Parts: sequence; structure tokens; C-alpha cells
Amino acid sequence: MTHPGHPHIHRQGGELHVEQVGVERLAREHGTPLFVYSKAAMLSALAAYQRGFAGRKARICYAMKANSSLGVLQVFAQAGCGFDIVSGGELERVLAAGGQASHVIFSGVGKTRAEMAQALRAGIGCFNVESESELEVLDAVARGLGLRAPVSIRVNPNVDAKTHPYISTGLKGNKFGVAHERTLATYRRAASLPGLEVVGIDCHIGSQITEVDPYLDAMDRVLDLVDAVEAQGIRLRHIDFGGGLGIDYRGDTPPAADALWEQLLAKVDARGYGDREFMIEPGRSLVGNAGLCVTEVLYLKPGEQKNFCIVDAAMNDLPRPAMYEAYHGIVPVGPDGASPATTYDVVGPVCESGDWLGRDRELAVQPGQLLAVLSAGAYCMSMASNYNTRGRAAEVLVDGSRAHLIRARESAQDQMRMERLVG
Ligand code: LLP
Repeated sequence: MTHPGHPHIHRQGGELHVEQVGVERLAREHGTPLFVYSKAAMLSALAAYQRGFAGRKARICYAMKANSSLGVLQVFAQAGCGFDIVSGGELERVLAAGGQASHVIFSGVGKTRAEMAQALRAGIGCFNVESESELEVLDAVARGLGLRAPVSIRVNPNVDAKTHPYISTGLKGNKFGVAHERTLATYRRAASLPGLEVVGIDCHIGSQITEVDPYLDAMDRVLDLVDAVEAQGIRLRHIDFGGGLGIDYRGDTPPAADALWEQLLAKVDARGYGDREFMIEPGRSLVGNAGLCVTEVLYLKPGEQKNFCIVDAAMNDLPRPAMYEAYHGIVPVGPDGASPATTYDVVGPVCESGDWLGRDRELAVQPGQLLAVLSAGAYCMSMASNYNTRGRAAEVLVDGSRAHLIRARESAQDQMRMERLVG
């Protein structure tokens, strides 16, 4: 039996497996909380995009903010992906994982001069510029280095992605991108600056998008801008359509990547831009359902209003429920026991009432048993913190019947290494 949305996570003899590796053995060997990822799941999610772009000039730039662990980046680098980065630190990670700088695009509203210089020296493929003032600074930094910065303007198409307000990015009230009505003037300015070379256009309307319509609307608006920019004699070599495709957390039904792109490319072809290079920046849809987090039940605490199942993973490991009230499936690792199910709030040891991983879950569990928090490949480890001086979890990448430890568990010593007593 596989778990919905998780084709590479299944039960064998009652026990949860990631590909051919039993999760219980991994937890015994490496301890908990432990993130376990399936390489095959990542590659099959990538393959859906590759099918969607077959026969096109296209580059898939993995939005590494979703999961920036080196072993994960290596999977995508070896599969020929580029990377969408949002900091100089992320660029260093790409290079450390064997990725190519020329396949990197740099997004984000707050790039510093130092980060711009670092990326220019490394020779990245494109800066996705998010404001008119950033354009001026990038021009000055590039000229100072005797270089030209390849740029794309991130446009804000003012489209409602119909997702959580914290992860909606393509509306007028969001801090992202250049307003639709300022786009033309911004391109004219970019084309006039000697330190810049205009190469493309980009947009990103939000994350965990489960409907096709916002994408189709945004594509129409972006192509209107391509018409207008090119009418000024400014040629756009590539069209970058961002990321944002959702995954199945709880019966969500996002379109498949290839089906989505079939519709989007039909629109692009109809409007005469089918010959351009396409870029996309998917994050969550490449890794989200490729991972789970294994956690041990520490205590059961029955109460008058609530029963609590206290586990050893917490909001510092899995911040999405606390931050967005996000839902993650929680299932036993071992066979369902004989004990009757009880309704629990699954909570961590952190000293905050917001430290919960799941509410009102029916579970038949005992202390010492293992649970798996599903859909934990994206925006979990990359958003993990050391709150309460909790070491960040270990990570294992499963490839068929082999399990590779790609990150060791962080110790208190690791956490204190940068600190000094006074005197
Ligand atoms: N490109 C840009 C410019 C972005 O801002 C993002 C995500 C992506 C690509 C990748 O989007 P994806 O394909 O992963 O949806 N922490 C939140 C998600 C924040 C997304 C921010 N931007 C969460 O856990 O739901």
C-alpha cells in the first residue's frame, strides 16, 4: 500500500518503507527526529516537468529554499537542473553540491551589494530583479567589477493564486516584483544601463497553488508584457514562470506538472512565443512529498479537553503547522497496533502552545512507538531552527535499497561553536 501523494513511501509487512528501506531500522540507526527522503520520488517529480517541456528549450531551476541540504541539491545537479537561489549562502551551497553557476538564477527583494558581487564573480545565469532601485545598484556593482549583469525583471501580475496569504506573492499588496504598470519603464531603464544585459522576464505568483486558472491568468498578463516590452525593441530571450505548484497534503488535487505545462505552453504557442527559452523555479512540488520526518512518541497525556501525544519532533523541526496552521499527515511507522485509536493533538517538547504538529488525530500509539510526519520534504529542514537549543535533526537520502546519511544530527557543541563568553 502506498500513501496518497507519496508513491515511493509504502507499507511492507505492515512497516513503513521509503523505497526499499524500512523506516524503523533507520530510526534505530540514526535516532529521531529523522528526516528520510526518497531520491526516486524527487526524480519522478522532476520527470513530470521534463515531460512537460519535452522538445522545448527549457531549464528547470530547483527553488532550493524548499530544501537546501547538499545531498538533495546533488540529486538535482546530477539530473541537470539549474537552481533558483535567494542568498549568497544558497549560491555557495549550489557550488558545494556540484551545481553550475551559469545555471543559477538569483531571486529575492533584498539582494545586498556583496551578494550581487559574489554572484557576478561566480558567473550566474540571471538576476531576477525585483525593484527599480535594485536595478540601479546592480548596474553600479557590475560596472565596478567590469562586468555586465544578465537581468530579468520579476513582474507582479496582480493575480490571486488562491493560497495562504503568507505564501501568496503575485498580488499588488505583496512586496514582490515590479508592478505591472511600471514594468515597461523599468525595462527601458534596464536596457539603457551599461552594466546590465536584459535577457528575460519572470514572475512567481505564490506557493502551494492547486488550481490551473491563476497560472493561465498570470501567463496571459506576462505575455501581454512581453508584447509591450518587445514593441520597444527590447528582446526577451527567456520567459521564467516561477514555481508554486502545490502538492497533496490532505487530499489536495493540484494539476500534474506535465498537464499544467501542456495548457500553459498551448497558450504560449498560440501567442507566438513558443520558440523562447522557458525557465521555471519549482521547489515544493519537487521535494515535498519525497520526504517524511520520523519521530518517537515520548508520553501520552490524557486531559479533560484534549489528549496530547507528545513526540520528540517539534516546531523547530517542522515549523509549518505553527506558522501557517498547515496540515501534515501523521501515521504510525509500525503496523497499526491492537490498542484502540484515541484522538490526540500531536505536540512537541518546545515551550510554546503553538508547538503542535497535528490536531485531533486518531492514533493508536504507545510511548516508544514511532510516527512519521508526511509531506516533510519541503520547507521543513530548510526552515528548521535551534529554538530551545534543540539540535537540528539528521537526514537520510534513500536510493533504492541504500540509505545515505546526508546530514548528521547537530549537537549542542555544534550550536555553541560560534559563541564566546565575555572576558
Ligand atoms: N520562486 C520564487 C521567486 C519564490 O519566491 C518561491 C517560493 C519559489 C520559486 C518556489 O515556490 P514553490 O514551488 O516551492 O511553491 N515556507 C512556505 C513557502 C514559501 C514559498 C516562498 N517562495 C511554506 O512552507 O509553505
